[in-house]
Amino acid sequence: MRILVNTVNETQELAAKLAKNVIAGDTILLSGDLGAGKTTFTQGFAKELGVRRPVKSPTFTLVREYRTEKFPLYHLDVYRLGEEGNAEDLGLSEYFGGDGVALVEWSQYIKADLPDDVLKISFERVEGQETERLITITATGHRSNQLLAAMEA
Ligand SMILES: Nc1ncnc2c1ncn2[C@@H]1O[C@H](COP(=O)(O)OP(=O)(O)O)[C@@H](O)[C@H]1O
Ligand SMILES: [Mg+2]
Repeated sequence: MRILVNTVNETQELAAKLAKNVIAGDTILLSGDLGAGKTTFTQGFAKELGVRRPVKSPTFTLVREYRTEKFPLYHLDVYRLGEEGNAEDLGLSEYFGGDGVALVEWSQYIKADLPDDVLKISFERVEGQETERLITITATGHRSNQLLAAMEA
């Protein structure tokens, strides 16, 4: 699924739509360059779930946990692991496929910890356009395909 959004608001509306459909155990991987819109998407997602606390990327920790009425929301940003090479065995797998919903930025640095069935969302800037983003959503398994179908509906 590919969507061209024109504004921050449209990115966050898409995130809200996904937030309405997730259940505990779902994992969402967000990819794209710095400034592409991964954290902005996460903000729209958290807002839909009633999170009032400002959502910003964790700097000193790899994970921030937000409480929602339905499940814990885990926001992982493991950007800084990119410089450290071996990123295995960090014990991050506890955030996936369990009691909560996880959104992960820079998931390529924790490949070994990730589950097989994930919804992948990539963000690309459009040349010459300040607020346009090309968003591509793909699924890798049964559950993520259900989510994708819900997004397409
Ligand atoms: N359509 C859009 N979707 C998401 N962010 C946008 C969009 N248009 C402009 N922006 C801006 O781009 C920046 C994206 O930053 P951020 O979400 O932190 O990126 P990332 O987490 O991918 O590094 C923000 O300053 C945001 O306001
Ligand atoms: Mg970010």
